[in-house]
Amino acid sequence: MIKNKSLVSITDFTKDEILRILELAADFEKNPHQPLLQGHIIASLFFEPSTRTRLSFETAMNRLGARVIGFSDVNATSTTKGETLKDTIKMVSNYADLIVMRHPLEGAARYASEQSRVPVVNAGDGANQHPSQTLLDMYSMMKTQGHLDHLKIAMVGDMKYGRTVHSLIQAMADFEPTFYFVSPDELKMPDEYKEFLDHRGIKYEEHKDMNAVLNEADILYMTRVQKERFADLMEYERVKNTYVLRNEMLANTKDNLKILHPLPRVNEISEDVDANPKAYYFQQAENGMYTRMAIIAAIMGVK
Ligand code: CP
Repeated sequence: MIKNKSLVSITDFTKDEILRILELAADFEKNPHQPLLQGHIIASLFFEPSTRTRLSFETAMNRLGARVIGFSDVNATSTTKGETLKDTIKMVSNYADLIVMRHPLEGAARYASEQSRVPVVNAGDGANQHPSQTLLDMYSMMKTQGHLDHLKIAMVGDMKYGRTVHSLIQAMADFEPTFYFVSPDELKMPDEYKEFLDHRGIKYEEHKDMNAVLNEADILYMTRVQKERFADLMEYERVKNTYVLRNEMLANTKDNLKILHPLPRVNEISEDVDANPKAYYFQQAENGMYTRMAIIAAIMGVK
């Protein structure tokens, strides 16, 4: 039962619940005008910058007919006066029927869900999890590949700090994928995620050269090097441009290949890729709106 459940980690939802969200997202894509939440109030609390996640969540809330309260600039809140996250969440959960929250600290969303009287949806907590992104990524894979089973998924860039790849490998583990993790040594996939995959018997390879895996992949999941997570900016400068996907590199890739990126991109996908039919990152961002309508509607119990 998804109703009244918080979505903090993607592992909070079962495989069946994930598939139900994808089914609902398809329904909302066919008919986005379903004002099922008139009379409800949803809080959108962004303690960390966002473009897509916040705007697609708030568009989803508006399309569902809910009213939206919240903030996108933490400097305009009483956090700057020293108010704790606990007190902020206790207040807001008296005002709203659902809280969507992004926070720079890993574990903040779980803590918020423990303090809140209403369900909390994690819109990204530090380098930890980004479960709504995972659901829209899976919806994008389902739409473009026709299924989720046995996909070969190449993830390129920041495996260490990229919360989207951490959530995605956990959810896709139910569908027997093969993963190729491509990163410099400094940004390798953390051991805890590799141990998770070992435990589940999921195949993965680690590479430094993107060209070694490009022609194998069904999905190429490019990521930004997460500058804001580096303690040492000199290290960021050393690794920031390690991978740049250019159109000519796609010449011998599979016909069904789709290029995903949670966005924002910095330099890791050259703009000459945008016109290639294999580029799917802008449609992926649009899919986020339907997927977030599905998440909200399911948790609020109106679907
Ligand atoms: N994909 C994603 O989380 O983008 P934003 O940071 O713009 O929300």
